[in-house]
This record gives sequence, structure tokens and C-alpha cells, in this order.
Amino acid sequence: MSRNRISFLILVMISSAVFGGSASGVTEAAIQADSGSLDDSIICFVIRTYWGHGDTWGDKSLRRILGSLRNQTVDRWEALLIVMDNRPFPELRRIVREINDSRIWVQAEWINFKYNPKEGGTWAPNYHNKLYNLTDIAIRACPTRSRWVVVTNGDNTYDPKFVESVFAAPPGVDAVAFDFYSRYQRPTALPCERFEEGEGMPPCKENEMRFCQTDLAANAYLLNRLLAENRRFGLVDPGGTHGANDGIMAQALLAGGWKVHYLHGRCLVNHAPSPQQCALAGGVWDDTVMYLPSNFGGACVHAKSVLERIRAHPSAYELLELNVTFDRDSFSYDQYPFIELKCLRHSNRSLWYPMETYGRVCAARVDWASIPENTPPHPWDGWVPKPEIEAHHRRAWVNQGDGDGGVGEEGEEAQWEPESEGDQKTPSLNGAVRDEL
Ligand SMILES: *[C@@H]1O[C@H](CO)[C@@H](O)[C@H](O)[C@H]1NC(C)=O
Ligand SMILES: *[C@@H]1O[C@H](CO)[C@@H](O)[C@H](O)[C@H]1NC(C)=O
Ligand SMILES: *[C@@H]1O[C@H](CO)[C@@H](O)[C@H](O)[C@H]1NC(C)=O
Ligand SMILES: *[C@@H]1O[C@H](CO)[C@@H](O)[C@H](O)[C@H]1NC(C)=O
Ligand SMILES: *[C@@H]1O[C@H](CO)[C@@H](O)[C@H](O)[C@H]1NC(C)=O
Repeated sequence: MSRNRISFLILVMISSAVFGGSASGVTEAAIQADSGSLDDSIICFVIRTYWGHGDTWGDKSLRRILGSLRNQTVDRWEALLIVMDNRPFPELRRIVREINDSRIWVQAEWINFKYNPKEGGTWAPNYHNKLYNLTDIAIRACPTRSRWVVVTNGDNTYDPKFVESVFAAPPGVDAVAFDFYSRYQRPTALPCERFEEGEGMPPCKENEMRFCQTDLAANAYLLNRLLAENRRFGLVDPGGTHGANDGIMAQALLAGGWKVHYLHGRCLVNHAPSPQQCALAGGVWDDTVMYLPSNFGGACVHAKSVLERIRAHPSAYELLELNVTFDRDSFSYDQYPFIELKCLRHSNRSLWYPMETYGRVCAARVDWASIPENTPPHPWDGWVPKPEIEAHHRRAWVNQGDGDGGVGEEGEEAQWEPESEGDQKTPSLNGAVRDEL
């Protein structure tokens, strides 16, 4: 337990000693009016971070995520930071100290050569599961008044209404699933164009609570149930070395009968890097590299580096400009009538990743109609819930939007079972702390 926490507790004890008694009637009424009830439960954010999120050697994103939490309309949250890396994060303490918010504390900092995330440019074997093991420990260190837990990475950000929206979920739900900004938006559609605004396009990636269709950072789980059932992210994919544990966990919970409240059509989570954020930051989206062992799903790069590449190989690239999808009610984006993205792709179409790269398991709902019937089998096909395969073959899913955000449709999906558990190659999609090369 950090010193911050202890002094916070002392402060609370002192304030109740000072204010307890005399004006208590007024105070309690005010509290009740303020929160609607005496429920003081919180969301516990477990934030996985490393030096690359810092100020000097990183992208300054840790300050951003903490700022986005401090900006919440409902302040019922705490954030517990964990680090597992082979290099220290010397600025971490300073950042936390300067922010000076007793809700934010460092839970664990594990630095050791054994926690090397990458070896020779690809993920070190077991790194993800080691980090998920530490994540599981951290989840169990959440304050006892935590009703919900959200596991996230230090470079993501949350809309100010995120916490409010979790607490507004109907009673009786076990998880709240948010759609989210992501570079995996429509991964089976054409490069660059996959982000483009258009009739019937969802504003961001839809959270289907399954493999390749969810995000660790975009789900709030009921802490008590997670603990009672002893659910551990570090154990759901024992053979996997690539960190798809978030999707596998989501499917396991659905199979276990968890009730999920979906917030479809709202994008209150930004998983970095996203094309929307890239466009607003003045970057260029590099959609030439979609699939390498070390890098999935495109990247936000500096305009200068793109110009150099184009100058060196003028006929090799196409630079597109397009309006990206976005949720106008998120992240103060209502100030933009549209968001234009510059996006780079190969001009040679045979270098575009084929549909088979991601397989039908990763296809967005709007793209199911474009999946050829003769698409060859894919190693990840075992993760497609059977009802969805059948639906796909019936072509019956078109325009069956379930945008009501309600509970209940997950009954069907609960029948999911992996076809050959254990020997699946699982991709690093959304679960990794670091997304850069
Ligand atoms: C906090 O909210 C303000 C006002 O909505 C916004 O301008 C600012 O960018 C937000 N900060 C973060 C870190 O999200
Ligand atoms: C930290 O915050 C507390 C309470 O909000 C305040 O009293 C204190 O002066 C702050 N400390 C610094 C160094 O800003
Ligand atoms: C994660 O923890 C479990 C025990 O809880 C252990 O069996 C497993 O080996 C750990 N995984 C890694 C990669 O260290
Ligand atoms: C984006 O949308 C606006 C408004 O419809 C339009 O004027 C603009 O040309 C569009 N930009 C691109 C790159 O298509
Ligand atoms: C496009 O790429 C393919 C595969 O690398 C290659 O065989 C073909 O010659 C290229 N076409 C052009 C016009 O460069």
C-alpha cells in the first residue's frame, strides 16, 4: 500500500472526526442528493504501464489516461498502476506525485531482465501471460469497495462519461462492454477505406465480447463475480504467447452465463493508436503493414517519414485522404464537423493483405456480406461462435443491428466452444501494453 493511500485514509478519518456529528444531517442529505444513493462503490482501473508511456522517453500517454480519469463526470474510481518490464520507469513516481490525486497509486513495479517484452523484434514467449499473471494479482488488490474492475494500458484514454455509463448499467448485469476506437476497425475491409465514414458504418469498432472483437480496456467486469469464480486472465490461454487473453476471457465469461450490457454505437474508449486520434494529432495512418509477428493493424506515423518514403518510391504508395467514422458524442469530437485522415497504402493491390489474413473471426458485422463463401479455413476459425457461422451461411445477419445496448442477446453466443483448445495460434490484437514495433 502506498503512502498516498495511507494519508488519504488519515485525511478521511480526520474529516469525519471534524465534520461528524453537528452538521451531519445536511451532509448526508447532500451526499444522497449528489450520488442518488449511499452507494460509494467504485471502478477499480488496473493500468498496465511502462517507460514508453512516460514524459521523457515515452509518448506522455500516462498523464493523458490519468487526466482522462480525473475528467470523469462521476468520480467513483481509483487507479492502480502496475509495471512489468526489463527497463525501469524512473518517471513513474514523479508523474504520480505531481498529479497528486489520492485515487491514483502504484501497486507494483516489477523490473527484471526476465520481464523482457520482446526478443529479436517479436514478443518474448510468455511475456503476455506473465503480465496477465501480475494483472490478476493487481485485480485482487483492488479496494474492497470496488464494484467494477477495468483492466487497461497506460496509453488508452476514456471519455468523461465512461465511469458514469458503467454505473448507469441496468441492475443485474455482470459486465459492461463499450465499443471503442481501434486500429482493428474493419480489419478485413480495404486498407485505409476501412476507416471511412459512410452509410451504415459503425462509428468505431463494435465490442462483441469475443476473440478479435473486444478489448481488454473496453470492458468493465463485476469484481466480486470475477473473484468468486476465480477468473484469471493469466490462465485462460496457457499455450498462447501472443496476448489474446482479453477475447478468450470475454468468451469464457459469456459461456459461463455472465450477463453483458452492450453500449453499441457509443465510443467512450480510445485504444491507442487509433486512426481517429492519429488524424486529430496531425499524423498519417500507415496502413501498409497490417500483419507481422511484431506489428498488427497499422500505425500512426509522422508525415515527414511518409513523404520520405513516397519520395524514395513514388509509384509504390497511395496517399489517401478520407473522412473517418467517429461518435460525435465522445471525446469532445462534436467540435469537428468531420475528421479527415491521411492514410498510406501500397498501390500494388496484390500487396494488400487478403481477407484470409484476419479470417472471418475478425470481420466486422458490416463486412460479413463481403466474405467470400470460398474463403479458406483459418487457424482462428475455432474462435468464431457457432451461431454466427450459421448466421453467416444463412446471410441472415444483414442489418439486424442490435444497437439497443440491451442485455439478453448473449444467450446464443454462450454456446461458443473452441474447436481445438490448446493448439490455436492466437494473435496479439488488443491485449498488449505496447503496440509499437
Ligand atoms: C478534460 O476535459 C476537458 C474539457 O472537456 C478537455 O478539454 C481536456 O482535453 C480533457 N483532458 C483529458 C486529459 O482528457
Ligand atoms: C496535493 O493535494 C492536496 C489535497 O488536494 C493539497 O492539499 C496539497 O497542497 C497538494 N500538494 C501539492 C504538492 O500540490
Ligand atoms: C502464471 O501463473 C500460474 C499460476 O497461477 C503459473 O502456473 C503460470 O506458469 C504463470 N505463467 C507464466 C507465464 O509465468
Ligand atoms: C469530409 O467531409 C466534408 C463535409 O462533408 C467534405 O467537405 C470534405 O471534402 C470531406 N473530406 C474528404 C477528404 O472527403
Ligand atoms: C505487385 O506485387 C506482386 C507480388 O509481390 C508482384 O508479383 C507484381 O509484379 C507487382 N506488380 C507491380 C505492377 O509491381
